[in-house]
Amino acid sequence: MRWLGIETSCDESAVALVEVAERTLVVRSSLVGSQIARHRPFGGVVPEVAVREHLKNLPQLVSRVLAEAALPIAEIDGIAVTQGPGLATSLLIGHAYARGLGLMLGRPVRGINHLEGHLLSPFFASATPGEVAFPFLGLVVSGGHTLLIEARGWNDYRRLGGTVDDAAGEVFDKVARMLGLGYPGGPEIEKTARSGNPSAYEFPQSFPERNNFQFSFSGLKTSVRYFLEKHPGRLADPAFVADVAASFQHAVVEVLVRKTIQAARHRRLRQVTVAGGVACNGLLRQRLEAEARREGLQLALAPAALCTDNAAMIAGVAALKEAAGAAVESGDADIDPNLPLASLAAA
Ligand code: KG4
Ligand code: ZN
Repeated sequence: MRWLGIETSCDESAVALVEVAERTLVVRSSLVGSQIARHRPFGGVVPEVAVREHLKNLPQLVSRVLAEAALPIAEIDGIAVTQGPGLATSLLIGHAYARGLGLMLGRPVRGINHLEGHLLSPFFASATPGEVAFPFLGLVVSGGHTLLIEARGWNDYRRLGGTVDDAAGEVFDKVARMLGLGYPGGPEIEKTARSGNPSAYEFPQSFPERNNFQFSFSGLKTSVRYFLEKHPGRLADPAFVADVAASFQHAVVEVLVRKTIQAARHRRLRQVTVAGGVACNGLLRQRLEAEARREGLQLALAPAALCTDNAAMIAGVAALKEAAGAAVESGDADIDPNLPLASLAAA
């Protein structure tokens, strides 16, 4: 089965072609049309700009993906599109486009949960990529979400914890702005932190209690803000900025690693997966690898190219679930900007 994936949950238009052959999942082509430069002058995502860009990008990306995969459009077996969560207007454009394409080609359309895309993306890189090994503990860390999920089987996802305020990626972006670094902030902080000392300053880590799997990052963000206000003028010193970036990154990474390992231990899960934009972070990957090894846990990290938003993870969910005979939402279902992952338990 060959699945065309379409993802427009926020400000990136993404299209991919994914194929399952003998339970092996192959990404034949995956392209992302970034809109970052279009939104930068406004200092954030402007919904109407995003919609116009999606409309312009989608047909071009579909043509390029098909050309890269050397596949005529008639050979697509199905279309997978993000149903939610995300920005309503952006979701509507991708959904309408996918349904139109499905109607024209006479192919089924499936509605996919964006978070399930992130959650399952680590399996695209495993030795036998089509084999999703339930049960596992999944950490999803992105610009919009910070979630610890116990995945017990297809459509059987239990939320163990999540953020009560800012998402981990969001706080990387906000602190980067305070430090005068570029957008998106995660990669900028990581780069700047390389020459800094992670123990230079101590920033608070939230909910330190054992077996509390909630996260809170707004206190950390505020403490960086107060710290910078107490040291006016020092942002001009690159060594100071590097030390703050490294100390902040250390605080976020340590809390993510500690709670993930504790949750795995608490739920007696031997396999841990990590995905979402923040999973690109080198220090997070390194620290998780070290701690998982120490605990004897099996760790599956999403490949870096599939950590940030992409359509391969959307097509991949449809492909893997269809191959496994698991229920998949129809594309006829309405988009839902607040679609929760746990709702899949009822499917
Ligand atoms: O998954 P994603 O592309 O979009 C959402 O679904 O939110 O994640 C984007 C987020 C941004 O906040 C970005 O700053 C963060 O992922 N990010 C990183 C890194 N690369 C991207 N955070 C920390 N370190 C990175 N290397
Ligand atoms: Zn995402």
